[in-house]
Amino acid sequence: MKTLSSYNFRDKRVLLRTDLNSDVVNKKVLMSERIKRASETISELKKKKAKVVIIAHQGRPKDRYFTSLKQHSRLLSKFTKVKFVNDIIGKKALKEIKNLKPGQALLLENIRFLKDEFNFNGKQNRLIKNLVPLFDIYVNDAFSVCHRKHTSIVGFPKYLMNCAGRLLEKEVKSLKKINLKNCLYVLGGAKPEENMKLLKGKKSLACGLFGQLCLISKGKNLGAQNKYLKDKLYLISKLKKRLKGVQTPVDFAVKIRSRRKELSLEEFPSKYEIYDIGEKTMKNFIEEIQKANSIYMKGPVGFCADGKFCNGTFTILKAIAKNKGHSIIGGGHLSDAVKKSRIKLGKFDNVSLSGGALLRYIAGEKLPGLEALR
Ligand code: 3PG
Repeated sequence: MKTLSSYNFRDKRVLLRTDLNSDVVNKKVLMSERIKRASETISELKKKKAKVVIIAHQGRPKDRYFTSLKQHSRLLSKFTKVKFVNDIIGKKALKEIKNLKPGQALLLENIRFLKDEFNFNGKQNRLIKNLVPLFDIYVNDAFSVCHRKHTSIVGFPKYLMNCAGRLLEKEVKSLKKINLKNCLYVLGGAKPEENMKLLKGKKSLACGLFGQLCLISKGKNLGAQNKYLKDKLYLISKLKKRLKGVQTPVDFAVKIRSRRKELSLEEFPSKYEIYDIGEKTMKNFIEEIQKANSIYMKGPVGFCADGKFCNGTFTILKAIAKNKGHSIIGGGHLSDAVKKSRIKLGKFDNVSLSGGALLRYIAGEKLPGLEALR
């Protein structure tokens, strides 16, 4: 796989796919490790006097995270200056791309605003038709999106010279060191559909939305369900058949008038929504973590954007940090949580910005984005 060291970038127009996908609370995009780390490759390319055009996404159509990249450009500019243009393949974008000077960077609008991103159908794809002729080199720095067969991941490298950015290069290097013998999975986060891929009878601790879904699949009525959980209820029939080895929470923290209150499972159904696991669950999970030879944790345990509901995530992370076996921490939100917890990164073998892509790699799947670069 070629890297940033493989080409001379001076005066070259570079199309850089990066991952800026971050948490959004009350329509505000929060600063994230992804944004911070994405700036490394951008700065290097700017220093090498490339004309850098950045493409990235935020959220998925119709979800609560789906929004413009305007706020990201401000956040990114705290590390390296980028100009935002609220266009992707229209006249405005094409003009800005053509006017770009060496050492400058431009961030285009959320690539997922265009249907063509989801449907790579060769040369007639509008992203390919409009952007490819303007560029010399494509750089993929979005390992966390490499499980998607999207145009910005598998389309551009078909038509342009290409290489990996520094972040992707580092992620791929650390994959080679992964040792998952008798691995314990700690599966949380807000994308439970991905976790299902790992349920093959191995020991797993279920938390986040996934933990709630597993309990519902076992027939437990939890009461109040937020809309994110409701959106995932379609998974239940499949999940019912895959619960072997899955350990579920025995208590939760709910939010009552902005306060944290812990309820044991017997106290459900509750009219209050769940935001975290409770202390008994933490204790049970810690016991399993202490016994494990290697651990893979994906996604936060609770709603960590709110400090009152970080206990579960921080406690589990601390337990993993103490375990002497191989540990892998994955996902954008979880790497933000590691930072917030102030646990030293060196306490884990690998802290990846990638959620779904890493999980699929661990599940033994090939990643189309990496294949496309090879
Ligand atoms: C992630 O958050 O894991 C990546 O940005 C990929 O997002 P996706 O699951 O919406 O493709």
